[in-house]
Amino acid sequence: MSVSITKITVLGSGVMGHGIAQVSAMAGYQVTLRDIEQSFLDRAMEKVRWSLNKMVEKQKLSQAQADEIFSRITPVVDLKQALAGADLLIEAVPEDMNLKKKVYAEVDGVSEQKTLYASNTSTLPITEMAALTNRPDRFIGLHFFNPPQLMPLVEVIPGNSTNAGMVDMAMNFIRKVGKQPVLCKKDVAGFIVNRVFIPLVHEAAYCMDRDNATMTQIDSAVKFRMSFPMGIFELADYTGLDVIHKATVEMHSRDKKVILPHPKVKQLFEEKSLGQKIGKGFYEYKGEKYERINLTEQEAATYDPIKLLAVAANNAAWLITKGVCSKEELEKALKLGMGLKKELFVTVQEFGPQNVVRTLNELAAKYGQFYEPDPYLVNYRG
Ligand code: 3HC
Repeated sequence: MSVSITKITVLGSGVMGHGIAQVSAMAGYQVTLRDIEQSFLDRAMEKVRWSLNKMVEKQKLSQAQADEIFSRITPVVDLKQALAGADLLIEAVPEDMNLKKKVYAEVDGVSEQKTLYASNTSTLPITEMAALTNRPDRFIGLHFFNPPQLMPLVEVIPGNSTNAGMVDMAMNFIRKVGKQPVLCKKDVAGFIVNRVFIPLVHEAAYCMDRDNATMTQIDSAVKFRMSFPMGIFELADYTGLDVIHKATVEMHSRDKKVILPHPKVKQLFEEKSLGQKIGKGFYEYKGEKYERINLTEQEAATYDPIKLLAVAANNAAWLITKGVCSKEELEKALKLGMGLKKELFVTVQEFGPQNVVRTLNELAAKYGQFYEPDPYLVNYRG
């Protein structure tokens, strides 16, 4: 399958959709951004403008380039009009299988035969989604990371019916938009990065209860002792508690061993404390577009994050054991998708693999099989 991609249609203009539209326009593609209400599109285009202005401010783009990129994105409400002439559709609507079902039925009704389908789903099964459409062989997962404008990773996830040409197209397209693809070889719950990230949010909440630690203590330790660019509560707020909650429910329904949900996430979701975008999540915010929590090395020194490291490493080990990715691909994904400043298994080495495994065994004895150490980790000697 040799295809030439010129026109992209992005469905859904939220946090991910507007960012994917922007990076595609930055690579020279003609982009249509579609949502169900003009007000959503207006807000999305305002965010694109803000992001481009930041890039101008940081001299990554000239004002003329930024204006040209902005003009390559056309916001459209009408679905048929949005899909006219599309070579590639990237769907980034909320993570709800019933909604996706509805959206793909509508899309199938109006899309042209040539249009290839990709979903930016973070956890839903690609094979199942592909089967909702009239072209399962030309359907693939393209999982971008938040913020798509800054995060260099895209996970490429073929479903059982995806043809080989589609995988090549996806890898080439991702490189063309200046990102680095990592192939997720199995359509597992959470793919690669979310398999590590989402359970960690819950573990951080357990650490608060079990160790009587504060959020900034835990977050500072994650940042300064585990080499994450942000704390884990900070990252959860930044990602959105709606996204975290829906991913949790989906991952848990697919595999009970993958995640141990802490009630706090569901509670925040139900209270509509959705994180930075609404000014309140785990933390409170002033409501600016991009706001960070003050985390310090001094606070980091007051909390040992080994339980968090152990859970992250255990899920990472599971991915390697199951053949979802190699250790190298895993580290690449965590570096580019979560901004880890040091390889996860280098941190494991620093804490001592036996200490990490002992921590998991102690947790498993108290709290059950979620913590049972994966054989790869048990045998890991560095
Ligand atoms: N466009 C352009 N600029 C942006 C931006 C955007 N969308 N968002 C933020 N910026 C700007 C900020 O305003 C800031 O500018 P300033 O210096 O003028 O204030 C600058 O970029 C970033 O500066 P910081 O010093 O705060 O940055 P960092 O060095 O920490 O980098 C980061 C920011 C890239 C976000 C980094 O903190 C990071 O990698 N964080 C982790 C993010 C992550 O893990 N994402 C994945 C989440 S999981 C996911 O998305 C999957 C989903 O399925 C759940």
